[in-house]
Amino acid sequence: MINKVLVTGGAGFIGSWLCKHLNDNNQHTIVLDDLSFGKKSNLKILSDYTFIEGSILDEPLLDEVPWDQITQVYHLAALGDVHDSLDNPKKYMNVNVTGTHNILEKCREFNIPFLMTSTCMVYGLHAQYEEATINGIAEHHNTLPVSPYGASKLSAEQLAISYHYGYGCSIKIARPFNTYGPHQATNNKEGGVIPIFLQKALNNKDLMIFGDGTQNRDFLYVKDCANFLYKFMNSQNAPLILNAGTGKTISILDLAKKIVTSSSSSIHMQDHPHPQSEIMVLKCNSDLAKSTLNWESQYTLDQGLAENKQWISEQQND
Ligand SMILES: NC(=O)c1ccc[n+]([C@@H]2O[C@H](COP(=O)([O-])OP(=O)(O)OC[C@H]3O[C@@H](n4cnc5c(N)ncnc54)[C@H](O)[C@@H]3O)[C@@H](O)[C@H]2O)c1
Repeated sequence: MINKVLVTGGAGFIGSWLCKHLNDNNQHTIVLDDLSFGKKSNLKILSDYTFIEGSILDEPLLDEVPWDQITQVYHLAALGDVHDSLDNPKKYMNVNVTGTHNILEKCREFNIPFLMTSTCMVYGLHAQYEEATINGIAEHHNTLPVSPYGASKLSAEQLAISYHYGYGCSIKIARPFNTYGPHQATNNKEGGVIPIFLQKALNNKDLMIFGDGTQNRDFLYVKDCANFLYKFMNSQNAPLILNAGTGKTISILDLAKKIVTSSSSSIHMQDHPHPQSEIMVLKCNSDLAKSTLNWESQYTLDQGLAENKQWISEQQND
């Protein structure tokens, strides 16, 4: 029988590529998404899926999901904007914590393995400690989130871990670092820094950097992320928590310089809206994913940027 796998947030950026990876591995996906940020057009890359439109906060709707046919749950539905979370913390607690709790309850009731995408933002200030800036921050390092987004994901993680120890549920917690690629929004409000910069450069518009651009990030291409989530879910010997990143960092200023090379855009600095919540270095140590899953990122930054740029220009010409 073909497995039916539920992906909450499956119409979103990472979720849609994860669903494609699942289809490519002969798994039928059930996508549950309220389309608050996801798009139906992201599902065009899929070959075998069922779509349920609705919120993970809608308990009557959740009762209608065919849980008895589902063999695995990938939980990606969440709100993910650090700045917005500082302005609107309550909705992050609702969706990211209460929403996760609703999905965990169903997994407990129907005995379904659960994997959630947490985030590197749970490490927060600890990512800046010297050892973490050299060898990368690893799973055993402490967490110290600096935004309600990071705190809500850490709370959801802790809840999931309590379901593992308290009820014997199968729980996996993935902490991807900054992920980028096609399907990520290019607008300033919802987008990631790479698609925003690429789109501006393609249109010869200026690139704006928050702060002085010395923030360093470890950028993971979305197809590498999808492969990581799939391998993690299907591993028998993985630990509860795993990081995913490349182990290489680039400053936002160097990223901007790389992206503007073939355009007439210039680079400008602007005041940071929330300087107290900026993390200056986020570098991943994914040795544990390598040793337990035999997973490593395959895309170089240049390869990922080229694919992402190609996709953005195709969208513009559509
Ligand atoms: N993009 C990154 O760099 C990154 C890095 C680490 C972790 N993550 C995590 O990965 C997951 C996916 O993030 P993404 O970047 O693809 O963002 P995204 O916004 O594209 O995906 C989230 C999806 O969840 C859906 N959603 C939001 N609230 C919902 C609700 N109440 N009910 C049902 N669906 C809802 C949205 O419509 C969207 O499709 C999130 O959990 C995020 O925290 C993202």
